[in-house]
Amino acid sequence: MKFTVLSLFPEILQGFFDSSIMAKAVEKGTVEYELVNIRDYAFDKHKTCDDAPYGGGAGMVMKPEPVALTLDAVGAADKKTIYMTPSGRLFNQAIAEELASEKEIVILCGRYEGVDQRVIDAYIDSEISIGDYVLSSGETASLVVIDAVYRLLDGVINSESLEEESFSTGLLEYPHYTRPETFRGMKVPEILLSGHHANIQKWRRGKSLEKTKKNRPELLAKAEISEKEIEIIGEIEKSGD
Ligand code: ADE
Repeated sequence: MKFTVLSLFPEILQGFFDSSIMAKAVEKGTVEYELVNIRDYAFDKHKTCDDAPYGGGAGMVMKPEPVALTLDAVGAADKKTIYMTPSGRLFNQAIAEELASEKEIVILCGRYEGVDQRVIDAYIDSEISIGDYVLSSGETASLVVIDAVYRLLDGVINSESLEEESFSTGLLEYPHYTRPETFRGMKVPEILLSGHHANIQKWRRGKSLEKTKKNRPELLAKAEISEKEIEIIGEIEKSGD
């Protein structure tokens, strides 16, 4: 899969592609990427990419011509093209899975007050927000999307890990422990040392329910939960957690 990212500061993204699991995916050829600097397509001698908003108001707007020329240069019209903006559709695991089935995604990163609306109307398939807060740029937001998508590609992460993690079951993930058995007086839950696989699975499911109830109760309404598990949630509620 290829990620083509259009940005005024592509160097923000370079380190991510050069590091850790992503660097391995690039080396194996599972991921290809191209970082394109929008400023290279600005045509005046100062390479201007922003201007004051029509109608007045604070901040600057990214000019349409350099952005459109950059989008043309990467063939965005025929590719899935997304724009990172706090006014987009809220990103989640389902959108990450949808994007992971594409051969290539073009990601436009905004700066300042955002990009001239005419470019968005002409080229963008989907506007995506990573959360209800405003970042200083779309670059960091694009990294969140790229990270959530590429790790779903075949061979990047072991598939067992993907099945068990938060959101794949509709619940948050259970807690994890590793050596040493006692750390600063705190012991690993006994059941995890028992070697009894079925009991460990049951304990983990209970912990997932407990954690979801505590941190993200709204997810419980959509998750697939048995009658018995509804009782467990009731007990958690009674215990006042
Ligand atoms: N750019 C600035 N804030 C953003 C957000 N929350 N999501 C996506 N892009 C953004």
